[in-house]
Amino acid sequence: MVRIRRAGLGDLPGVAQVLVDTWRATYRGVVPEAFLEELSYEGQADRWARGLRDPTWPGRLFVAEAGEVVGFAAFGPDRASGFPGYTAELWAIYVLPTWQRKGLGRALFHEGARLLQAEGYGRMLVWVLKENSQGRGFYEHLGGVLLGEREIELGGAKLWEVAYGFDLGEQKW
Ligand SMILES: CC(C)(COP(=O)(O)OP(=O)(O)OC[C@H]1O[C@@H](n2cnc3c(N)ncnc32)[C@H](O)[C@@H]1OP(=O)(O)O)[C@@H](O)C(=O)NCCC(=O)NCCS
Repeated sequence: MVRIRRAGLGDLPGVAQVLVDTWRATYRGVVPEAFLEELSYEGQADRWARGLRDPTWPGRLFVAEAGEVVGFAAFGPDRASGFPGYTAELWAIYVLPTWQRKGLGRALFHEGARLLQAEGYGRMLVWVLKENSQGRGFYEHLGGVLLGEREIELGGAKLWEVAYGFDLGEQKW
């Protein structure tokens, strides 16, 4: 059985492992190899711990747990993308490759979107690498609307991201 719930500090080693392993599986050949190799479980666990320990941190972190953490998603206020009305953002969503396509991504998305809507947010966006057809297929399947694109720098490489928007009132997911 898999539970979707808010994350605590004890989940962070699992969150870090999901993030690093899924990044490497998803972005190999897209993101520079050195950048992927430099990702570390300890570094990622520390990064999320700084958030969870800070009472002013605006993130909401959820995990999918099946004995151990097998997926996570982080939501929060929009980080200044400038699309009018899009005040909330899905910061990250990752499910371990062996657990993908079993409904966990949808369940994580649903929990976060429902919470943001209950808090009064109307619209949420997410940025995804343009070449990440897996992520884009998921967002499009959930009814995301293409909003625009931007160029970013990651590990010395210039990459394009696209943004998808969701109306939290529609609850298609
Ligand atoms: C994208 C991701 C989070 C989706 O999670 P998941 O658990 O595999 O997705 P789910 O099983 O919950 O799928 C939900 C629905 O979306 C559909 N879907 C999932 N991936 C899809 C894709 N690539 N193309 C089309 N539809 C897709 C599923 O068929 C399912 O449809 P249904 O509920 O109507 O039957 C996961 O695949 C992942 O972690 N990928 C790698 C990392 C990544 O790309 N993250 C996003 C970065 S911004």
